[in-house]
Amino acid sequence: MRKKIALIGGGQIGQILAMLAAQKEMGDIVLLDIPELENPAKGKALDLMEMAPHGNYDANIVGTSDYKDIEGADVVIVTAGKPRQAGMTREDLLAVNLQIITQVAAGVKQSAPKAFCIIVTNPLDAMVYAFYKLTGFPKNQVVGMAGALDTARWRAFIAMELGVSVADVAGTVLGGHGPDMVPLPRLTTVGGVPLNEIATKEQIDRLATRTREAGTEIVKLFGKGSAFFSPAWSAITMAESYLKNKRRILPCAALCEGEYGVKGLFIGVPCLIGAKGIEKIFEIKLADDEKAMLQKTIGVVAKTVEETKL
Ligand code: APR
Repeated sequence: MRKKIALIGGGQIGQILAMLAAQKEMGDIVLLDIPELENPAKGKALDLMEMAPHGNYDANIVGTSDYKDIEGADVVIVTAGKPRQAGMTREDLLAVNLQIITQVAAGVKQSAPKAFCIIVTNPLDAMVYAFYKLTGFPKNQVVGMAGALDTARWRAFIAMELGVSVADVAGTVLGGHGPDMVPLPRLTTVGGVPLNEIATKEQIDRLATRTREAGTEIVKLFGKGSAFFSPAWSAITMAESYLKNKRRILPCAALCEGEYGVKGLFIGVPCLIGAKGIEKIFEIKLADDEKAMLQKTIGVVAKTVEETKL
């Protein structure tokens, strides 16, 4: 039997998730949006069915506003919620998106209680926490997509700056999904060469700052809405690691219970994603300055989470 992927939210990111999941033949796809937008979701699903002959994929793709249609889903990816507009921080979305996540959590709990759930809605670290609390799902089954995107941005900027293949840039970004996130230049390599041996401190500092502000850079350019291609591909990478037991190690917002000194918060940390979901969190030995930066981002996440009152 084919796997089933439920996409909650059929907007900018949701529609690209649907296209990528189809092209990768990850399974059958359900695109769920609010009743007012059920027809656009159905329209997008039908458009993707009509793309299949040239896209060379077999998948059943449907649009709906009914949670019954996600029954038995193996993976749920949540993008339901408002995106940022120019001048907004991710935290400005807290109240409105918390309401939306509350509805989504109820629907997913009812209809797809076994699914591996990837949350994309911002403010990410608080929304994944809320979804976890509201569903009561096991911690290995709930994860936030942020570090995979932040690391992709870090790698992309390094490759662009140095004029090298992005395939050879390896590194990681820890912490919350906001301007205090922690890129780790010390542990970043380009074809095995340490980053700090082929880039100057000035270059590295500039790239780290650009990474922290990457989402905002896109929001400013768009004027309306936030990034969608790169978040979608990051979430699909996580879903694929689960569905195919690829055992990728990706930075994800995972529930830390003592790791990195964090108790009970979802923070971006390197995770192994396999058939059991979040199978392992890796604790990196950090230098003192890295530890201090991580403490700062943890403090910011804790404050936003507190505002959810969950
Ligand atoms: N249930 C299901 N879908 C909902 C609900 C709900 N209760 N409320 C809103 N939606 C849908 C909207 O109708 C819309 O189609 O979620 C979709 C969100 O799509 P966009 O507005 O295009 O936003 P997008 O760019 O996809 O970003 C979604 O991800 O990265 C984050 O900050 C971003 O929070 C935002 C989310």
